Amino acid sequence: MGQAPLAGIGACVFDAYGTLFDVNAAAARCRDALGEQAEPLAILWRQKQIQYSWLRSLMARHADFWQVTGEALDFAMETFGFSDAGLRTRLMDCYRRLDAYPDAAGVLKRLKAAGIPTAILSNGSPDMLADAVGSAGLGGSLDAVLSIEDAGIYKPHASVYQLAVGRLGVPAGRICFLSSNGWDAHGAASFGFRVVWVNRTRQMAERLPGTLVGEIGGLGELPALLGLAA
Ligand code: LAC
Repeated sequence: MGQAPLAGIGACVFDAYGTLFDVNAAAARCRDALGEQAEPLAILWRQKQIQYSWLRSLMARHADFWQVTGEALDFAMETFGFSDAGLRTRLMDCYRRLDAYPDAAGVLKRLKAAGIPTAILSNGSPDMLADAVGSAGLGGSLDAVLSIEDAGIYKPHASVYQLAVGRLGVPAGRICFLSSNGWDAHGAASFGFRVVWVNRTRQMAERLPGTLVGEIGGLGELPALLGLAA
């Protein structure tokens, strides 16, 4: 039998938003108020949220991800002509309790059963992450939930990825990092993680530094890559 592509992994570290949690779920839950605009608003909200995280890092003007998420929502709501403060509050409340993707809980449990430590490493602020993990019921399967707040700068800064090495005590080359965000996947690979891109929405390959070791369409494909029996 040939060796699994990711044999010898000492820990699996997951991006949160878009990888374990469905970032489109908040707008989808407010479809009664957003109507046809739910999907385009969710896309613009996410684009602006990520852009603002990069730009604040470049400007050395850090604010936590809850603030950035709210400012991105303000931009998106104004773009689509929504000015209702109650709707803003509702969308932000939903963002704190996003649905986990259906494949997330099973994979985390499978890794735990195999004795592979797992962690989240996310832009999310610690309180946002605690709420998301708690409401999705994933807490029992995670060994650590790490926030970039401990680095004070957003992904893909190398100091963020170093947080996982420091906390888990596993060298970068033995950490399997999983992200649905191509830019995050490349940032983590450039840092030295062994990265599997969870390409849920069949995005084109990014033209960025860092070589990815694998690409999967969903987390259910991960155990086989790690050489774990189904
Ligand atoms: C995160 C964003 C990048 O969870 O999705 O870090």
